[in-house]
Amino acid sequence: MACRYSVDFQAAYVVSSLLLLLLLGTSHSSDENFYSVRVTSLFPSSSCTTPSSAFGLDRVDEGRTLLEIVHRHGPCHRPATAEEKAPTHEQILVQDELRVNSIRARISGKKPGRPSSLKEAKAVLPAKSGSTVGTGNYVVTVGLGTPKKDLTLIFDTGSDLTWTQCRPCLKYCYKQQEPTFDPSLSASYVNISCNSAVCSQLTSATGRTPGCFASTCVYGIQYGDSSFSAGFFGREKLTLTYTDSFDNFLFGCGQNNRGLYGGAAGLLGLGRDKLSIVEQTASKYGKYFSYCLPSSSSSTGHLAFGKGSSSAAQFTPLTTISQGASFYGISITGISVAGKKLSIPVSIFSNAEGIIDSGTVITRLPLTAYTALRSAFRQAMSKYPMAPALSILDTCYDFTKYSTVTVPKLGFYFLGGTYVDVDFTGILYGASASQVCLAFAGNSDDSDVLIYGNVAQKTFEVIYDVAGERLGFGANCRS
Ligand SMILES: *[C@@H]1O[C@H](CO)[C@@H](O)[C@H](O)[C@H]1NC(C)=O
Repeated sequence: MACRYSVDFQAAYVVSSLLLLLLLGTSHSSDENFYSVRVTSLFPSSSCTTPSSAFGLDRVDEGRTLLEIVHRHGPCHRPATAEEKAPTHEQILVQDELRVNSIRARISGKKPGRPSSLKEAKAVLPAKSGSTVGTGNYVVTVGLGTPKKDLTLIFDTGSDLTWTQCRPCLKYCYKQQEPTFDPSLSASYVNISCNSAVCSQLTSATGRTPGCFASTCVYGIQYGDSSFSAGFFGREKLTLTYTDSFDNFLFGCGQNNRGLYGGAAGLLGLGRDKLSIVEQTASKYGKYFSYCLPSSSSSTGHLAFGKGSSSAAQFTPLTTISQGASFYGISITGISVAGKKLSIPVSIFSNAEGIIDSGTVITRLPLTAYTALRSAFRQAMSKYPMAPALSILDTCYDFTKYSTVTVPKLGFYFLGGTYVDVDFTGILYGASASQVCLAFAGNSDDSDVLIYGNVAQKTFEVIYDVAGERLGFGANCRS
């Protein structure tokens, strides 16, 4: 009996150990610290996956005003002309580096060179640093004038002045998707005069002193990739939805516009300066806006103004950047990969200014932080064959032999204790299955500005509570 009992006991012990091993084994392969990702889901589909009835959607939802966001180079955005080709990933990343260089120059106070193409612009004035466009951007459609004309604008939290190309295009207008705005056909357009107080606000909003032409205030704004717009500063009726419109919206009526705007009619400035749409609509929306960037260029997201009955979010303080008044400052305090917080000294983060930017594609981290992130990521991905670097992205994989891959979760700690897990669509940047890269890059200098870019922001409701001086990450809004 005793012997029998002992055998049973041993058998039971062996079985339970096996169970334990099995359980451990299971939890290792579909670990909560990893995403299991179908390789095809890393790339946009060739057609827009949002029902066409959703186009032109502008509505009031839970007390907020919603505008639809689409990626400028995806199938949900109608291209301006057939010959306008979407840029390659290399081109996007090169443009992104130009934008980042210009942000660095603005924040460090170093002045970037003045592009020769601007010399012919009318509004030209001593070149100070400009803001930045880049190519990896998102667009929204707003209404301008009386009667209202729809215009698709690039939305940019890194600059303030809203502008659109305007007839008669005294110097130059590039090809755009919609008819070019004609102020002479609008009953509500008014020129701003040179001696008006708002004319002088252009200095901080554009980084250059305004000019004067036949007593009309003239603006000029130059972006990091040497794109620019110059023209008359005007007031006009801006219509966001059927119910929400703003008389006397100050904007640039562009008479000389050059650059990589990809068929968009201009730019919507969502920065922190006085002339931004956030400030100009403050009485209605209380300087509160949020957006959800689509998970891929073949789906759509939204830009929302006003607080509404917004659901739970985690917040971190929003700070101002001394040199770059347009930017939204944030502080990152740590990074986690596969559930483990990396040992990066907090001083590495506190020694660099940090901003969140809707127009920068790839998040730029202090080199020391990026190096730690890269080595932890590479370790977690060691079973996959590596692929050549893609421009500034140096950690790429060849997934051609896989239909599903296991990718470590990756998240950021923000000042105040907020932790955000990046969506899997924000961890990898894919050119093709043979070259899928970690979507983060290191600054060459630890003291360069940290930029939390738009790939890492995908599928989160990113909330700018400017009056409350806090930035929030809300629910996953994947579409
Ligand atoms: C605005 O000013 C420009 C430059 O003086 C002028 O050509 C244009 O006709 C003016 N537009 C209106 C609507 O006053």
